[in-house]
Amino acid sequence: MRSNFILQKNKPIPPTEKLGFGQYYTPYMYVRRYRNSRWEDHFITDYELLAVDPASQMLHYGQLIFEGMKAYYNKDQEKVYLFRPEENAKRYIRSAIRLCIPQLPVADFIDSIKSAVKFSGPYIPPYSKSNPTPASLYIRPFLMGTTPKLGVKPAQDYGHVVITSPSGPYFSSGLNPIKLKVEEEYIRAAPGGTGEAKCAGNYAASLLAAEIALKEGFDQVLWLDVERKYLQEVGAMNLFVVIDNVLVTPDLDGCILPGITRDAVIELGASHFKMSVEERHVSIHEVIEGIKNNKVTEIFGSGTAAVITPVGSLGYKGEHYTIGDGKIGPIAQKMYDTLLGIQYNELNIECAKDWIIEVQIDG
Ligand code: PLP
Ligand code: COI
Repeated sequence: MRSNFILQKNKPIPPTEKLGFGQYYTPYMYVRRYRNSRWEDHFITDYELLAVDPASQMLHYGQLIFEGMKAYYNKDQEKVYLFRPEENAKRYIRSAIRLCIPQLPVADFIDSIKSAVKFSGPYIPPYSKSNPTPASLYIRPFLMGTTPKLGVKPAQDYGHVVITSPSGPYFSSGLNPIKLKVEEEYIRAAPGGTGEAKCAGNYAASLLAAEIALKEGFDQVLWLDVERKYLQEVGAMNLFVVIDNVLVTPDLDGCILPGITRDAVIELGASHFKMSVEERHVSIHEVIEGIKNNKVTEIFGSGTAAVITPVGSLGYKGEHYTIGDGKIGPIAQKMYDTLLGIQYNELNIECAKDWIIEVQIDG
């Protein structure tokens, strides 16, 4: 049995504007198993349903981690690039440690991504950087415990799988600002939990609040900490607030995902835009007061899928707060242009000189 969303071999991919995010899949996937305490050789197979034992660890206890990356064609349609894959490899290892999953070495992770991009060659969307919603090849590696075992113990057997999806940006609105609901009832992460790991359970736990927020007319939830006092992050991105011209973002306190785009935005803000950047606790009180007295001039999110997504308004305690004039601000716009310029290898910026690598593809 096959999913309806697999692209047909040797048929062109849908036009860029029709792609959406994560709706179509390349007809192949990369698989590497871990058995008898070692990683076996990898293989490339048709994209098909996974044969999974109904008692598998991952199905019952969620022993599953993942990553999100993108591959892009350059302007001449000759070269394909990845953005900071080593950082994803290192985060995969940190997530694996937190969930008692065997670590896939950095070089092996990067090889698996390169193989996945290589066989996805014909399905990488054409260069579309200047489109309102540029498309690229979204890459989704995941690693799961497959041992049938109902006792709550780490699995012995695992599968590392990489699927790829020609995709547009996460928000179909592109650079149009989104509306966030400041969540007061539910939380995503607490100290000592799994907030900083990229594991499936974190996302399952976020769904109810996100669904309620959607029904209320918001695009996503802005998570607060366990005291409902400090900002954490948004459903699929980290958050930046411009306060008095300072670029402020919640610090890595173990409760938020250490975003690779977040790290790039901090570096670009400080080294390239020469802004003051602060990683610290940011209270919702400071943000709401700042919006009221025009000290908070911009809020935006950062992420692989979300790229740079401006936030137009916040809903908090039943009130709506519009940030600035509700449109994308100059810093978010500049950050978006610079980040894409780097990712497509069109800008030569000192602090970003090692951020992209070229990948070979099958024609
Ligand atoms: N926060 C969450 C919860 C995410 O799912 C993501 C996306 O991966 C991010 C932040 C941004 O991380 P990155 O920039 O590494 O994609
Ligand atoms: C990403 O940005 O790659 C993510 O993993 C976010 C998401 C779609 C869950």
